[in-house]
Amino acid sequence: MVAKLKIHNDCGLENEKIEFMHDVLVGLSSEKKKIPSKYFYDEAGSELFNQITRHPDYYLTACELEILRSFRKEIAQLLKKEPFNLIELGPGEGIKSRLLIEQFLSDHLSFNYCTIDISKNYLEQLVRRFNQQLPSLQIIAINSDFSDGIKWLGNKSKKRNFVLFLGSSIGNFNIPKSRRFLQDIRNALHIGDYMLISFDLRKDVDILLHAYNDSSGLTCAFNLNLLHRINRELQANFNIDSFAHYSTYNAHEGAMESFLISRENQLVTIASLNRDFMFEKFESIHVESSYKYLFSQIDKLAENSHFEIKKTYLDTKGYFVNSLWQAK
Ligand SMILES: C[S@@+](CC[C@H](N)C(=O)[O-])C[C@H]1O[C@@H](n2cnc3c(N)ncnc32)[C@H](O)[C@@H]1O
Repeated sequence: MVAKLKIHNDCGLENEKIEFMHDVLVGLSSEKKKIPSKYFYDEAGSELFNQITRHPDYYLTACELEILRSFRKEIAQLLKKEPFNLIELGPGEGIKSRLLIEQFLSDHLSFNYCTIDISKNYLEQLVRRFNQQLPSLQIIAINSDFSDGIKWLGNKSKKRNFVLFLGSSIGNFNIPKSRRFLQDIRNALHIGDYMLISFDLRKDVDILLHAYNDSSGLTCAFNLNLLHRINRELQANFNIDSFAHYSTYNAHEGAMESFLISRENQLVTIASLNRDFMFEKFESIHVESSYKYLFSQIDKLAENSHFEIKKTYLDTKGYFVNSLWQAK
């Protein structure tokens, strides 16, 4: 059978540039300058993130792949009773989803695959690759922000849903935002639907610092790429060399926090915004937080967003967790 391949971008992505302009304007006009991490994933950023996931310092991907390889049969068993929609939020390259999908196909489960990602580049590559490698898979690809994609999905189908939210992407939201986001997901689901969601656990701080300051400078290039993107898409004149990447651990928040720090006093013009922005020497731009979790926080998040934790899958090092939740 030929796979049905669609990329929908009718969820507000036509407003993508306006939203980008708005977020950059608001973020760089704030007293503490910031740019949301969702803007990392242009073509170059997506490619850099792929390289990061293969780097030995970035333990997260290896841990999650180990968990999925160990438990995919068990997950397939759980889903085999009835047809379902497999819905993935932010698949990236789709290596992890492919592991599960291959298992589901070999166990003859009845499902279709719907995936949402802000990166058109990721979606195009994934659709092309899955079409070649998994020709029987029915795919719907939605190029949008998670929140628009979830709204679009809400009540679209009476079938059971199985949501994948991998890569500890939830960690990019602070705890109150995570709760609201998970409640929105829960509202788009039926009672009894499942979600496999991953969390990076708190651990030795040195391991965290190495992961976000990798020895090959990939994370540095990934973060600085945000300025290249603003230069290109919003006609700005950031001098990339005059910013330094800095990632540190905030023990009280339990979060790795990444910044770009101005090396000098400088004025940056963003022509699309018709604005200049002053940066003092050592002034920072916050570009990402990656929250690391305690088990008690995961329990509370599930409870507060009306899910029950059915299973907790850990890697052998105990660094990372994939948590199987069921909508209450
Ligand atoms: C940390 S990567 C994880 C990728 C993959 N799931 C993995 O585990 O390696 C985050 C993914 O979510 C997408 N993404 C990030 N923020 C998003 C947003 N607000 N809405 C939709 N997709 C987003 C990125 O393009 C990327 O594919």
